[in-house]
Amino acid sequence: MRSRRSCLAVPGSNPRFLEKAQGLPADEVFLDLEDSVAPQAKEEARKNVAAALRTGDWTGRTVAVRVNDLSTMWTYRDVIEVVEAAGDALDCVMLPKVSDAGQVAWLDTLLTQIEKATGLPAGRIGIEAQIEDARGLVAVDAIAAASPRLETLVFGPADFMASINMKTLVVGQQPPGYTEGDAYHYVLMRILMAARANDLQAIDGPYLQIKDLDGFTKVARRSAALGFDGKWVLHPTQIDTANEIYSPSQADYDHAEAILEAYDHATTVERRGAVMLGTEMIDEASRKMAEVIATKGRAAGL
Ligand code: GLV
Ligand code: MG
Repeated sequence: MRSRRSCLAVPGSNPRFLEKAQGLPADEVFLDLEDSVAPQAKEEARKNVAAALRTGDWTGRTVAVRVNDLSTMWTYRDVIEVVEAAGDALDCVMLPKVSDAGQVAWLDTLLTQIEKATGLPAGRIGIEAQIEDARGLVAVDAIAAASPRLETLVFGPADFMASINMKTLVVGQQPPGYTEGDAYHYVLMRILMAARANDLQAIDGPYLQIKDLDGFTKVARRSAALGFDGKWVLHPTQIDTANEIYSPSQADYDHAEAILEAYDHATTVERRGAVMLGTEMIDEASRKMAEVIATKGRAAGL
């Protein structure tokens, strides 16, 4: 499983950012051909992205390209040009505004053909699906099961808020007037359930007030608490915060390893399924919870 605590958005139309992104500590970098690229710059951006993939040094991170959504005229060329030119340097294609499972199946078929035509290993390129409108959310279970290439479901709050007519312009924050609870709870949980039921990662979307690190931290903590694996970052200053928030704390990691050790001893040596660890009773379900935290902690190098 690839680590995706921080997923850095880089506009494909900006060669300077494409260069700079290679030195940043984001777990994933996605090179964007969609909404951060103006219509007049789409073709140039494809060339920039293919060149950056071919000549850049992307070692140690997951690299994705976000193509345009399937209601546009650009999608098929985005996929064909970039994957033919640089498919061996690419981990995933991100498909935005996915509204039904057929769109993921379309991308899967196209990738299969390109892999055959170019000699890339079959199934090499994964898919990330953005859920960012009401139709996508309603169809999220079918979308999540649409292809073995799928690796993540990604929440797209900006498009989503527009799609449901949420009464606010500030992406990621609670809409004014919504004074109790979390206006995003249902959406996040819905995406998380579909992801987990299909062994996919669940990734939270962007926080557009890039100078407001406190706000970013608060929003990220919420989805991390639910179980999300990571979040988009739009600016280098958000990267370290995301990496920290979507990793377990050192104390939780140490606690998880202690549970695993104690439980292993209890079941194999003492032949007991429930034992005390300090003041806490642990059993098989505790082991499963500890395994989740320990796996994330090991991946984060704790
Ligand atoms: C991201 O694509 C969003 O719409 O929030
Ligand atoms: Mg979007």
